[in-house]
Amino acid sequence: MNLLVIGRGGREHSMIMKLAESDKVDAIYAAPGNAGAREAAECVDLDELDIDGLIEFAVKKKVDLTIVGPENPLLTGIADRFREAGLAIFAPEKDAALIEGSKRYAKTFMEENSIPTAAYATFTDAGEAKSYIEKQGAPIVVKADGLAAGKGVIVAETVQEATDAVDDMLVNDAFSKAGKSIVIEECLAGEEFSLMAFVHGTNVFPMIPARDHKRAYDQDKGPNTGGMGAYAPVRNISPETLAFSAENVLQRAADGMAAAGRPFTGILYAGLIMTDNGPKVIEFNARFGDPETQVVLPLLKNDLLQVFLDVLDGKDPFLQWEEQCCAGVVLAAKGYPGRYKKGVKLPEMDFDARSFVAHAGTRKTNDGIVSDGGRVLLAGAKGAGVEEAAEYAYKWLGQNVESEEFFYRKDIGVEYS
Ligand code: AMP
Ligand code: GLY
Repeated sequence: MNLLVIGRGGREHSMIMKLAESDKVDAIYAAPGNAGAREAAECVDLDELDIDGLIEFAVKKKVDLTIVGPENPLLTGIADRFREAGLAIFAPEKDAALIEGSKRYAKTFMEENSIPTAAYATFTDAGEAKSYIEKQGAPIVVKADGLAAGKGVIVAETVQEATDAVDDMLVNDAFSKAGKSIVIEECLAGEEFSLMAFVHGTNVFPMIPARDHKRAYDQDKGPNTGGMGAYAPVRNISPETLAFSAENVLQRAADGMAAAGRPFTGILYAGLIMTDNGPKVIEFNARFGDPETQVVLPLLKNDLLQVFLDVLDGKDPFLQWEEQCCAGVVLAAKGYPGRYKKGVKLPEMDFDARSFVAHAGTRKTNDGIVSDGGRVLLAGAKGAGVEEAAEYAYKWLGQNVESEEFFYRKDIGVEYS
């Protein structure tokens, strides 16, 4: 089969590495991919949002299945358009992707379907939002309704911080259209975990839980980022909690979407917090998480292409997982998530049997591989436990990329909450 993977990050490189293991695969195309993707796929210079171009390419190259990494094309309607063109795609249609694209929609949907989540209210008027915050007190969470590249959530420790966030979003248009409407939410406390599932209609096949380290610096300090590292599975989440979340979050969501006439096909991602009152949803995504995917897929024993095909065919893919842990540490450009340099040359990298690299912001030039984004790559390894896995990932980073131009967290795998 010929496959097309849309996206340019670590998540997409990770999918490509896994798909390349399948003996059913003839060719993998990556649009646009990165320097890592080139090792197993043919990279084509098409933007994720160039849907006409992508359809034309898929027809020309006789692509049998397309898989979409990032959220933007989903909300632009890539799955709708591919299906209209008679092309198979493992991705939710625009209506179904709204569970990620609008936090306001997601909250109403959760309420209607009795999915456990934080108490909330929605606003478009700054004055009303501020009086609500003053009544509720801090800590409190302010969220832009629409897509904001992971930057639209402010966990405010004080009333002042929360009202400033309201001004930023509703008055100063800091997130333009995405922040014209906001959700204000109860601040939940507990350990976070991400639970993803392969979904087709009301069929839901959960993966193992992963933990994403979102803050830029050690000890969960500093600004929120796209994710500075991850590990899977998460130790402290009991089988009962996982079963509860699969049934009362993922299954209910799939059932609710189908009942609402927006059946979901693709990866459904629930971001959860384990509170004293059980797991509660902080967000839904309509796609694989990044960097969770990079530590979950290496533990999947199944042929990933066969999993996609089975799920699309209404069959149980019988997911099987290695009895190991996988940890991944993100190497970021100095300055990220603020201003940073691109085009910094990466050293030659050596691999051993345990370690792997998922490229993110990298680009191949005549002069070797250079950085091309804030998150440059994820160094990953497997081990008997998360400590052992992380130790190998750190050892690899220490031996291969110590440089003033980059930084990484030294505590991936450590829990603070
Ligand atoms: P998101 O962009 O939705 O992934 O949110 C970013 C981060 O904000 C999450 O990973 C949580 O750490 C935090 N967060 C979001 N919602 C809440 C909440 N209701 N209570 C506490 N923390 C939250
Ligand atoms: N790791 C969080 C996300 O992919 O949105």
